[in-house]
Amino acid sequence: MEFKPYLKKLTPYPPGKTVDEIRRELAIEGPVYKFNSNENPLGPSRKVVKVIKELAKTVHLYPEASYIELKKALAEKWGLSPENFVLGNGSNEVIELVFKALVNPGDEVLVSQPSFLMYEKFAQIYGAKVKTVPLDKDLKHHIPGLLKKLSRKTKVIFLDHPNNPTGSVLGPKDWGLLFKNLPENVLVVIDEAYGEFIENPEVPIGIEFLQNGFNVLVLRTFSKAYGLAGLRLGYGMAEKNLVKVLDALRQPFNLNLFAYKAGLAVLNDQAYLKKSQKVVKEGRKYLTYELSALGFKVYPSEANFIMVDFGKFCETIYQSLLKKGLLLRPLKPYGFPNALRITIGLPEQNKILVEAIKDLLG
Ligand SMILES: Cc1ncc(COP(=O)(O)O)c(C=O)c1O
Repeated sequence: MEFKPYLKKLTPYPPGKTVDEIRRELAIEGPVYKFNSNENPLGPSRKVVKVIKELAKTVHLYPEASYIELKKALAEKWGLSPENFVLGNGSNEVIELVFKALVNPGDEVLVSQPSFLMYEKFAQIYGAKVKTVPLDKDLKHHIPGLLKKLSRKTKVIFLDHPNNPTGSVLGPKDWGLLFKNLPENVLVVIDEAYGEFIENPEVPIGIEFLQNGFNVLVLRTFSKAYGLAGLRLGYGMAEKNLVKVLDALRQPFNLNLFAYKAGLAVLNDQAYLKKSQKVVKEGRKYLTYELSALGFKVYPSEANFIMVDFGKFCETIYQSLLKKGLLLRPLKPYGFPNALRITIGLPEQNKILVEAIKDLLG
C-alpha cells in the first residue's frame, strides 16, 4: 500500500483536553475548569436543551437535506439570501470544502503564523503548499507580508479574524491595503469564529466586504457565542456561484438533526447571545486588569480568550494550575513557548483562576 506522498508530513491536530481526559490523567476529583478550548462557559441555551429533548424521539429519521429553514434564518439575520449560505459540520468542514473546491496539489495557500492550525492541516491533506507569514509586531496579520508572498499559484488566503491564538484584529486601513492589491481570482477566507465578541466598532467585519463584491468567504460558527461546540455547526457566506460549488461538495446530511434544529433554536434566543457577549466582554476586562497587575503581558483581544505571556513562570503556572483542575492552553505549538491562552470564563471562574495564580506567586 502506498499513501499519497504529501501525507507523510501530516501530524494530528492537538485538541484541548476534555474534562474526562483531565480527570483520568490526573486523578482529579474536585471541579475542573475549562479555560482551554474557547467554549461557552454559560452552558447551552435552555431553548436548545428543550429542542434536543423533543428531537430524541425522531432520531431514526434523516434530517431535511436542504437545511432550508436554517439558511432562511441566517439569510434574515445577515440581510442576504439563503443561496449565500453553505452549512458545515462545524466551520472546520467549510474550511475543508474550500480545499476540495479550489486547491489542487501543488497550489499555494497563504496563512499567518500563528493562526488557526486547521488551515495548514487541510493544506497538508490536499497536497497544497503553505506559505506562512509571521504576524506583525502588534501580533496582527501582516498584510504587506502576505501580499509579498502572492504568486500565480496562490488560490486562497486564510485570515482568522480575530486571530487565534492572539485575539488581534485588523483595522480599515489593513483591509483596504489587502483588497486594493489582491488579484480577483484569490479567495480571502475571513474566519470569524470569534466575530460575535468584537467590541471595537471601528473593526470591519467580513459581511461588509461580501456586500461590496469582494471575493470573500466569511466563516461563522455556533461553537463559541452560541454554545453549540459539541453539536458541530458552522457556516460560510459567499456569493452564490461559490456557495453552489461548496454546497455540492458536502456530504448529504452533513449536519445532524440536533445541530440543524438547535441552530434554529439558538438563533431565536437573542438573550443567550447577549449574555454570552456580556460575560466575555466583562471577563476579558477583568482578567486583563488582574493579570497585568501581576506583571504579566496580556495581549489585547477581541475574542473570547486572551493570550498571556507568563515569561519564565509559564511552565510552572501551567502545570500547577493543571493539578488544581484549572486547564489553560499552552501556546508552544503556536510558537509562543512562554504564553498561555485563557478562555474567558464566568465571573466566579475567572476569580478562582486569578486567586490560584496569586497563590502560586506567593
Ligand atoms: C479561528 C477558528 N476557526 C474555526 C474554528 C473551528 O470551529 P468549529 O469547527 O467548531 O466551528 C476554530 C475553533 O476553535 C477557530 O479557532
